Formats: sequence, structure tokens, C-alpha cells
Amino acid sequence: MITKDELNRLKQENLSELYKLLNGSQENREVLFVLENLGSLPNGFDGDVFVPFTRHPNDDIRFWAVKNIGKVADEGDLKLLNDAAQHDSDSMVRREAISSIGRMRSPKAKKILSSFLSDADPKVVLQAIRGLLVFKGDAEIQNKLLQLKDHPNETIQSVIRREFSKNEKSSSAEPHPVSPEFLRDVVVQGDVREVLKYVPDESLHLTFTSPPYYNARDYSIYVSYNAYLDFLEEVFNEVHRVTKEGRFLIVNTSPVIVPRVSRAHASKRYPIPFDLHARLVNIGWEFVDDIIWLKPESSVKNRNAGFLQHRKPLAYKPNAVTEYLMVYRKQTDQLLDWNMRQYDWDTVEESKIKGDYETSNVWKIDPTFDRVHSAVFPLELCNRVVKFYSYKGDLIFDPFGGSGTLGKAARNLNRHFFLTEQEPKYVERMKADLGKTNLFQGESARFLTLEEFAVERAKEKP
Ligand SMILES: C[S@@+](CC[C@H](N)C(=O)[O-])C[C@H]1O[C@@H](n2cnc3c(N)ncnc32)[C@H](O)[C@@H]1O
Repeated sequence: MITKDELNRLKQENLSELYKLLNGSQENREVLFVLENLGSLPNGFDGDVFVPFTRHPNDDIRFWAVKNIGKVADEGDLKLLNDAAQHDSDSMVRREAISSIGRMRSPKAKKILSSFLSDADPKVVLQAIRGLLVFKGDAEIQNKLLQLKDHPNETIQSVIRREFSKNEKSSSAEPHPVSPEFLRDVVVQGDVREVLKYVPDESLHLTFTSPPYYNARDYSIYVSYNAYLDFLEEVFNEVHRVTKEGRFLIVNTSPVIVPRVSRAHASKRYPIPFDLHARLVNIGWEFVDDIIWLKPESSVKNRNAGFLQHRKPLAYKPNAVTEYLMVYRKQTDQLLDWNMRQYDWDTVEESKIKGDYETSNVWKIDPTFDRVHSAVFPLELCNRVVKFYSYKGDLIFDPFGGSGTLGKAARNLNRHFFLTEQEPKYVERMKADLGKTNLFQGESARFLTLEEFAVERAKEKP
């Protein structure tokens, strides 16, 4: 069989030999090899040599034939490509045919491409959009494309919104890296839902939090699981409002067990991350990643005792050594690049993650136990989140502050923090770490009641 080097040589020096090779090839393997490895085609290449292969029974051969016809960019092939796009049995071939039509950038292709805007395959529609965007300045085409802004497919919607959204700027009045002074390095004791009423839109850069575990621990008493999810939805809806454009929310949860009432009843397990997910997406948080926090088995509750003895199927209960860090981004048409471009060179350089870092989505971190709070973040977990998802000087929020671990990480990494916590004893606990003065901030955190916070807000410009 021919080699890549020989193929290249024929392409440069002996086209008629190359045509002969293609016409004479019987073996699918050889035809595919040639079609796949042709690369860019020299001027004057005769695309007719590919035409018989557009009717070949092998899907891959038809795909590559159509792709190569696109490279030749001969308007005379528009009809053939249109036929392939309409009638080929393989969806990859159909998409490639549209892509080839678009690549011609020919005004004659406008009508054909427009006819695929209502195709049932969203990827075909996307290829047609790509081809038509070349003629974005044409009023008729623009009108057709704009009609797709309410297309049922979310990727199509987002491409159209992005292409036709004029301003590069965020809706916030403040520059992206700046946060309101009165929120910086502040802990407010109170119900987060009350506190957030005083926080202006688009104030924060990052939220990382571990919400109450429904009724699995003493500090969380909700009338029902649904009421609990409603509560979280209300909080994260407000967090969405106060988060800057395109920035992140990271929620640490895991399924929890509410113990049985008596031996006559079963305990019940609640899949919090999965039930919360749909609500977050509905608010406008776009799902980005799921990170698994993996703990040593010796550090978690043993659920194996019964099964270990009797070994009867159905009663198997694995020890839960993982928790989720669900990563979301405030939905926007701006790319992440836009967020990064908002920072000056020094800030970007100083915020870069140096040395080794965790490359997988499984983070092995030992849990931390605290004498006052029963469910604290390990500092290492907060450090990683703060480093990976914020820049120096950013404002980082934990609505369920607990012992204030996130505040500690933020302070150590030269970010500002804003924490809310309703239990006075946990706010007292925070004072032990955050009440001390610090080189970066020059002074200790401010600990405010809801009323004091409201006064601070009133002093700030409207
Ligand atoms: C799982 S703990 C968070 C622990 C924290 N990540 C740490 O490192 O210490 C949840 C916290 O949310 C607090 N909390 C529950 N409901 C609240 C509300 N409505 N407003 C503010 N804090 C609340 C609880 O008192 C508890 O300290």
C-alpha cells in the first residue's frame, strides 16, 4: 500500500498518477488511507475524482469524499453536496456535506444553507449556521439567524446569542475585579437570606460552600426534604444575583442518611447533589464539573458491620468515602477568556498556580475535625478551590460559613472573604482564626450583626 510520503510526492509532482491510483483502488482500506491523508489540495485539483466515492457503500469513504470535495471549493459541486446533505443515510456525512458547502463561502450557497436551518439534527443546523455567519452582514441572512435565538437546542441558542450580542462588557457598573468595600473581610451573623438582601447585584467573584445536610445533623431542622431544597434554591438564586458575570459557584454536598425513628422503620437516604443540581441549572447556573472529594475509609462511619456478619444480598451498605464538589458557572455568553482578560498582567501572573497540582477530578484529602463545629472543610480543600477558581484580590463568599475555613484560605491566599453564619457559637469560633490582624488586609475581619451590616450598606453609595 502507498505511504504518506509517496502520496505527498504524487500530490506535488504527478497528479494524473494520483487520480489513476484513486480510480484503480479496489480496497476500502487503501481508498480510505488516500482520502484521509490528502491534506490540503493543490490549485487546479480535479474534484471529479472524488465523485464516485460519494456513492460508496462505506460511510467513512463517503465522509472523506465529501470532505475533499469541500477542499476543492468548486461551486459546480454545490448540487452534489446538497444531495448528500439531504439524503445520505449517515449523519456524519450529512454534517460534513453542509460543512463543505459552508467552506466554499459562496453567495450561491446561501439558499442551500438556509434550507438546513430547520433540520432535525442540531449539528446539521450548527454547520449551516457556521456557513451562513460568513454572510452575517446580509440583512436577510441575519434575520434568518436571529430567528434561531429561541431554538429548542441550547447550543444553537448560545451560538446565536453570542454572535449577535453587541457589547463585550458586563452589565455591572464596577470593573470586574473590584468588589464593594463594605463586603470585604466581613462576617455577618444572621440568616443568609436576610443578609443577602443588603448585597448589591454582581458583587462577588466566587462562592464555595457546604450547605446544611438536611436533617442529618442537629443544626438543620426543615419541615420536609422539599422544604429544604426550596430553602437551598432560594439561597442559590440570591447567590446567582450577587455573583459577577461568568463566575463560579462550587457546592459541596453528598447523599445523607436520616437515621431511622425506631427499629420498626428504615433509615432514609437523600441524594442531595442530584436533587439540587436540576434546581441550580434552572436558576441559571451552568454545570461545569463534578469533583470527587475522596476520604480515607478509616475516617468515615462504618456501615458494614451487619453485612460483614451475615453476608446476605440486598443488605450491602458501602462505606461512603466520597463527597461531591459540583462546579457551576453563572451562565453568560462570554467565554472564560473574557473573565481572564478583566485582570491586569500582574494579578494574572501572581494568581497563576505554581508547581504540582491535582490533574484529576478525584481529590484525596483527609477530613478535618474541629472541637466546636461538627462538619468543617479541610483547609486544603478550600485552598485548592480558592486557587483554581479565583484571582488575587477577588471576593469569596461562603453563605454557610460554619467555622470560617473558607475565610482562612481566602486570607492566606490574598483574597477577600465574605461569610454569613446564623449560629452565634460558630461565629465565636471564627473569631479565633479570623479575628487576628493580617498583613494583607492590615486589620482583622469585621464581625457584624444583621443590623450593623444594614447600617454599613446604607453608608455605601446606593
Ligand atoms: C456544613 S456547615 C458548614 C461548615 C463550614 N464549611 C466550615 O468549614 O466550617 C453548614 C453551616 O450552615 C449554617 N447555617 C444553616 N442555615 C443557615 C442560614 N439560614 N443562614 C446562615 N447559616 C446557616 C449552620 O449553622 C452551619 O454552621
